[in-house]
Amino acid sequence: MKRIFEVQPWNVVSHDFNRAEKRLQESMTSLGNGYMGMRGFFEENYSGDTLPGIYLGGVWFPDRTRVGWWKIGYPEYFGKVINAINFIKINIALNGEFIDLAKDEITGFELNLDMKNARLTRSFTVEKGTVKVVVTFERFLSVAQKELSVQRVRLKNLGSDDVDVKIISAIDADVKNEDANYGERFWEVLQTDQKEQSGSLVAITKANPFGTPRFTVGAEMHHRTALQAKVAAPAHDKEVVNGFSGKLVAGSEIDFEKRVIVVTSRDYHTQNNLVSAMNAISEKTDNLSYDELFDAHRAIWAERWEKSDVKIEGDVAAQQGIRFNLFQMFSTYYGEDARLNIGPKGFTGEKYGGATYWDTEAFVLPFYLGVAEPKISKNLLKYRYQQLDGAYHNAKKQGLKGALFPMVTFDGIESHNEWEITFEEIHRNGDIAFAIYNYTRYTGDKSYVLNEGSKVLTEISRFWADRVHFSKRKQKYMLHGVTGPDEYENNVDNNWYTNYMARWTLAYTLQVLEEVSQEQAAVLNVTEEEKQLWQDIVDRMYLPEDEELGIFVQHDGFLDKDIKPVSEIPADELPINQHWSWDKILRSAYIKQADVLQGIWNFIDEFTPEQKKRNFDFYEPLTVHESSLSASIHAILASDLHDENKAVEMYERTSRLDLDNYNNDTEDGLHITSMTGSWLAIVQGFAGMRVRDGKLHFAPFLPKKWDKYQFRLLFRGRLIEVGVDTNGVSLELLEGEPLTVGLYGKDVELVAQSSVFV
Ligand code: BGC
Repeated sequence: MKRIFEVQPWNVVSHDFNRAEKRLQESMTSLGNGYMGMRGFFEENYSGDTLPGIYLGGVWFPDRTRVGWWKIGYPEYFGKVINAINFIKINIALNGEFIDLAKDEITGFELNLDMKNARLTRSFTVEKGTVKVVVTFERFLSVAQKELSVQRVRLKNLGSDDVDVKIISAIDADVKNEDANYGERFWEVLQTDQKEQSGSLVAITKANPFGTPRFTVGAEMHHRTALQAKVAAPAHDKEVVNGFSGKLVAGSEIDFEKRVIVVTSRDYHTQNNLVSAMNAISEKTDNLSYDELFDAHRAIWAERWEKSDVKIEGDVAAQQGIRFNLFQMFSTYYGEDARLNIGPKGFTGEKYGGATYWDTEAFVLPFYLGVAEPKISKNLLKYRYQQLDGAYHNAKKQGLKGALFPMVTFDGIESHNEWEITFEEIHRNGDIAFAIYNYTRYTGDKSYVLNEGSKVLTEISRFWADRVHFSKRKQKYMLHGVTGPDEYENNVDNNWYTNYMARWTLAYTLQVLEEVSQEQAAVLNVTEEEKQLWQDIVDRMYLPEDEELGIFVQHDGFLDKDIKPVSEIPADELPINQHWSWDKILRSAYIKQADVLQGIWNFIDEFTPEQKKRNFDFYEPLTVHESSLSASIHAILASDLHDENKAVEMYERTSRLDLDNYNNDTEDGLHITSMTGSWLAIVQGFAGMRVRDGKLHFAPFLPKKWDKYQFRLLFRGRLIEVGVDTNGVSLELLEGEPLTVGLYGKDVELVAQSSVFV
C-alpha cells in the first residue's frame, strides 16, 4: 500500500510534496483546540487545487433548502459550518517574487504534524537563480488560551547573496465555502483597523430569513520580527494587512511571528465587548514569548496524553493510527464548552456541516467516559437537555408528541435536508436515551438521569408512544417508514434496531420514573394511562426474527432481497457508493454499516454467544463498511466471538481509515466521530472491557502482530493501566481508592502502587 505519510509513532510526516494529494495532506494535518480549528492548508497563497478551511466551534449558517419538492415537515434549511475569516495568511516574497508552491520548484520539503505537542511545521527550500532560502512555517492553536493562534516563520539564507524579503500578513474575510450555493459569501465586514504592526477585523454572518442568530467574529493580529514594518495596501476591502520588509543577509536567519486573537459573539454579545475582549487577551499574552506560549500549550497536551495514551509495541502503523485518532478527537472536543459538540468532520472540512449527529451518543460518548473526567461526558448529555425545545419543535412538525432529537443540528432544530434521514432515521432518539444509561452505568453518577435525564427520557418515550402504531393483524406495535443505521435502506418497516431501541427506552424510562424524587415526578407529570401504554408497547413491540436462520431480521422484507456476500462484488465497483446508482444500492442487500449488529453491541451482555455468532455470521459478509462508523463495532463483536483475525482486520480498517484513505474520501476532511473506533476496538474489543453491576471487567487477548498494548482508563475516580503482552495481563491502579475488577471472570483486587499480573 502506498502511504501518504511516513509511519512514525508520534508524528505524521511527509517529505513528498505531491500536488495531486494536496487536499488529503491538508485534511490529515488539521489542527484544533476545541474552540476553533483548521485544515493544514498553506499560510501563503497557493494557486493550485486546495481546500482552505478555518472553522469556529458553534458558528454556522442556515442555508436555504426550500426547493420545488418541498413538503410539509421538511426542514427549512441546511445548517452548515462556515469557513471563517482567514487569519493565518502570510505571503512571502524573495527578491520581489512571491512564493507559490503550485509553481515554484522546491527541495527539502517536510510537512510534520507533531501530535504530542499539537503543532504543525512545514519547511522547504526555495532555489531560484542566486536565491537559496529555507522557509519554515510553524503553527499551533493554543489550548491554554483558546482564542489564540500562534504562527512563526523562519527564513534562512543558504545562498551567497543577500535576499530582499517582503512579508505581507493578513486577515481576510473574503472567504467562501466550497459547498455554498452559487459561490455565495457568508461574511460582511463591520469594521477594520489597520496599524503599522497590527490590525483587526470584525465581521458578521449574513442576515438570514429563518431568525437564527447572526454570528460576529473578531480577529486581531500582532507581529514580532526584526523586519521593518512597511505600510501595505489590502488587496480588497474585506482585508487588513501588515507589511514588513528587510534584507536577509547571506548565511543569516530571520524570524517572523504572528499571533491572532479570535473572539466571537457566542462569548461577547456586543461589538464593543468583542473588541475589548480582543484587546484584553492580546495584552495578557503580549508579555509572553513564543516559547512560553508553546510551553503552556504543550503542558496541557501532556496532561491529556498522560490520562489517555495508548501504547502499542510491535506495530508502528497501529501505534501511529491510534495516536492520530486520539489527537484529532482531543483537538475537536475536550468538553470545555457544554454548548459545543462533535461534528463528524470536526474542524477538518465542510462536509456534514460541522453539526451534531447521533455519532456523538453512539460512538463518542463511550470513548470520553474512559479517557476524560465524567464532567466531559456529562456536558455531552446536557447539550441535548439544553436543546429540548428544538426537539419538541421537530416532533411537532411531524405531527407527533414528545421530543424528536434531530439527526443533524446546531441548536436542537433539525437542520438537514434529506427526508429519508431527518424524518426516518429516528433511531437516534433511542441512541440519545441509551447514552444517559451508558453514562450512569459507567460513572455510577445518578444525578443526571434522576434530574435532566429523566425529562429527556420522558419526552423521548412520549415520542415513541405516539410514533408506533398497533397492528391488529399481528397484535403487535410497529414502526413503519423508518431508516435504520444502515442508510443503504430507506423507508423500511420494522427496522429491528429501531424497534428494539424504542422498546428499550420505554422500559428504561418506566424504571427511572420509579426512582425520581416526588418533585421531579411532578415536573415530568407522566400519567398512569401513559405508563400503562408504555408498558403495553414494551410487552408487545414487534421485533422481526427468523427462526430458521436464528437471526434478528434487519427489517420486514430484508430476507426477500437478493442476498449475496460483498466478496461477489467486483473489486472495481467498490466502494459501491462511488460506482452504483442510488437505486441499485437501495435494492441491494448490501449494508452500509452495523445495523442489527449495532443493537447487539449496545446490549452485548443480553444475547447468548450463539445469537451473537449467528447474527454476526449472517450480516458481516453483507456489510460494505462504507460508513466509517462500521468497522469498530464489528471489531468489538468479532473479539467477543473470539474471532481474532476478523477483529484485527476490522481494527486496522478503523485505526488508519484516514491515514490510509481507506474509503477514498478523506480529502474533504477527516472522519472525526469514527476516530473513537480504534480506541473502542482495543478497549472493548481486544481487552474485552465491560461494566456490569458497577464493576469493570476485562478478558483481553493480544493480536498476533503485536508484542504489547497498554492503555489507561478513568473509572469512578480511579486511573487504571491495563497492559497486555505475551506474558499475560497486567493491571495497575495509578490513582484512587482500591478497586475490585473482574479479569477473565475472576475478581482481582487493585491497590495503589502495585500491579497485578495474570
Ligand atoms: C452514516 C451516519 C452518520 C453520518 C455522519 C453517515 O455516512 O451513515 O450513520 O451519522 O455519516 O457521520
